Amino acid sequence: MDTQLLAADPSGIAQAAAFLSKGGVVAFPTETVYGLGADAHSAEAVAKVFEVKNRPRFDPTIVHVATPADAEPLWTDVPPVARRLMEAFWPGPLTLVLPKAPSVPDIVTAGLPTVAVRMPAHKVALEMIAAAGRPIAAPSANRFGRSSPTHHDHVLGDLDGLIDAVLAAGPTAVGIESTVLSLAVSPPRLLRPGGTPLEALREHVPDLRVDPPQGPSASPGTLPRHYLPATPLFLLEAGDATCVGEILERRRCAILAYRRRWEGFGKIEVLADSGDLRQAAAQLFAALRRLDAAGLAAIVAEPVPEEGLGLAIMDRLRRASSGRACLAGEHVQVQR
Ligand code: TXA
Ligand code: MG
Repeated sequence: MDTQLLAADPSGIAQAAAFLSKGGVVAFPTETVYGLGADAHSAEAVAKVFEVKNRPRFDPTIVHVATPADAEPLWTDVPPVARRLMEAFWPGPLTLVLPKAPSVPDIVTAGLPTVAVRMPAHKVALEMIAAAGRPIAAPSANRFGRSSPTHHDHVLGDLDGLIDAVLAAGPTAVGIESTVLSLAVSPPRLLRPGGTPLEALREHVPDLRVDPPQGPSASPGTLPRHYLPATPLFLLEAGDATCVGEILERRRCAILAYRRRWEGFGKIEVLADSGDLRQAAAQLFAALRRLDAAGLAAIVAEPVPEEGLGLAIMDRLRRASSGRACLAGEHVQVQR
């Protein structure tokens, strides 16, 4: 299949919408990461998304809408807290999970009785969804297990030749996926930290539960090992003196640094020299891809503070990591 690279202008958006209306699969920008979209009401179109991503069928997708009013028919019941959250955070990186309407195909929700919905804060996405005239089911536009694409070049790198089109809108602003919040349980529960900070959510949902859910309420896609780079990644645990195992020279390792310029590494990416965690989130996946492409023996990642978007960054780094590492002199000690 020839994948069309569409300009993010009215004509490109109209072509993307036409593909979606015909049951096609189109990658499109959102403020978080690029999504791989299909008509949410067509089980066949959504099946193609699972196929090209190589995504397991047990992992449900988020349905994207152009207005809050378009979300309501996807759910059976919309509690007041959902309306308050939509009012406060949409459009934006917050996904809400509620019991699904019968019209939502099972493949979208992986058989779950709930459906996750969000309204992205990206003009191109909103115009495309409105032009398609239907809700759009979309996981992140990467091959399953790889890190989410924050630029249309990343999408092409993973999926060129497998999908109908990519709307090319350059880098995404937030850079980390949406926060997923379940309102189908009481009290409401955080299923995945993301682009909407927990602190902001708590102002509206004071009884929010954040401990990792177990069993049926868990978010199936939040697998412990996810976002895996090809190069083994180790998260630095500050002051950890118990590291034993393989010793690698710094120059054989890449480092994903928070704000400090570490010396001696084979390759370095600094997420945010100012310490701004929003900037760090926006850089995260692209920086990881560049370090991975350097083909060094290991990537070591420096932790960031777990506040604001730092919570989501650390969640992604933990999932991407294969173990632990600590720095010792000119060497990096990794524990496998
Ligand atoms: O920012 C984002 O959320 C991006 C953009 C494209 O919107 N999308 C995204 O989709 O990250 P994906 O499929 O990579 O992650 C969706 C997450 C998964 O962890 C999935 O398990 C969870 O949302 N999810 C989807 N439907 C759910 C449901 N009904 N109940 C619980 N978790 C659900
Ligand atoms: Mg994903």
